[in-house]
Amino acid sequence: MKSQVEERPAAANPYIPYPVRIAEITVENEARDLKTFKLVFEREEDRQAFAYLPGQFAEVSVLGAGESPFGIASSPTERDYLLFTVKLTGSVTAELHGSEAGRRIGVRGPLGNTFPWQRLEGKDLVIVSGGFAFTTLRSAITYMLDPANRSKYGRIFALYGARSPGELLYKKQLAAWKGAEGLSLNLAVDRQPGEPWDGKVGLVPNVLRDLAPSAGNAIALVCGPPIMIRYTIPALQELGFAKQDIILSLENRMKCGIGKCGRCNVGAKYVCTDGPVFSFAELEKLPPEY
Ligand SMILES: Cc1cc2nc3c(=O)[nH]c(=O)nc-3n(C[C@H](O)[C@H](O)[C@H](O)COP(=O)(O)OP(=O)(O)OC[C@H]3O[C@@H](n4cnc5c(N)ncnc54)[C@H](O)[C@@H]3O)c2cc1C
Ligand code: FES
Repeated sequence: MKSQVEERPAAANPYIPYPVRIAEITVENEARDLKTFKLVFEREEDRQAFAYLPGQFAEVSVLGAGESPFGIASSPTERDYLLFTVKLTGSVTAELHGSEAGRRIGVRGPLGNTFPWQRLEGKDLVIVSGGFAFTTLRSAITYMLDPANRSKYGRIFALYGARSPGELLYKKQLAAWKGAEGLSLNLAVDRQPGEPWDGKVGLVPNVLRDLAPSAGNAIALVCGPPIMIRYTIPALQELGFAKQDIILSLENRMKCGIGKCGRCNVGAKYVCTDGPVFSFAELEKLPPEY
């Protein structure tokens, strides 16, 4: 007998996940608590139906364990697979971390809004990120560097910080980006490491002040832990960024992901459908619950 997943097209019911297989698992960091899962759709029509843009997230489900929201780390220009980078946190993420390539799991989405891609056209980008929140910004950079999109966006300044070199995600990708036309990639670690390090040293907001990217024709995309965001916003404002030109992504706790359960609201906004991407100007009007 066919399972419910196989009988009903996922797109017709937003609660039913698409069946996917784990094609590859990459351990990202020395602490081994961050893994990237490369997922492939079992059905070609599902792959085509899953149309997304950088900034969006999806619910990843494991039978018997439940589902959790994760930012989509792949770019739509990487057409054959989805990437999710998952920190080992609790029950669902433990089940994912304990999985092996070949396992069948589910993906429900794409969910939420995107980075404001129309507004970003013709603009320079200042990308600021810390820790494992770099996921959707990896997606954004990959998307903008794709030859089909490159002429739509100006220069890209990226600052990505982690506690130590071993905690930086996507090391091969970061190396491949060095020298990419129009991209200034700056890596930072909190303290001078014992190993050779040719990047910056310092906390992200301080390194940002030192590097002082121009706010002239730029919009800032910021993803990181709440403490980093709290100190990065004033640094961006000192550099001349207006509140509506500082774009942030929230990671509030969620359940349904589609605006039905009321689990993720901040004031009158649902982070899962009105967000997760908001400008600082929008967030300032909301209660400080994020
Ligand atoms: C839009 C969005 C994008 C996200 N993107 C990523 C991503 O790319 N990579 C990633 O690793 N994680 C991401 N997260 C967080 C991720 O959803 C949670 O870590 C995950 O749901 C934990 O599931 P679990 O069953 O393993 O943990 P649980 O067993 O449910 O919880 C373990 C502990 O973590 C706490 N917790 C769970 N979810 C959150 C949360 N959202 N905020 C703060 N504390 C929480 C619980 O209260 C509990 O203390 C994202 C969340 C959102 C809403
Ligand atoms: S998670 Fe259910 S309303 Fe947002």
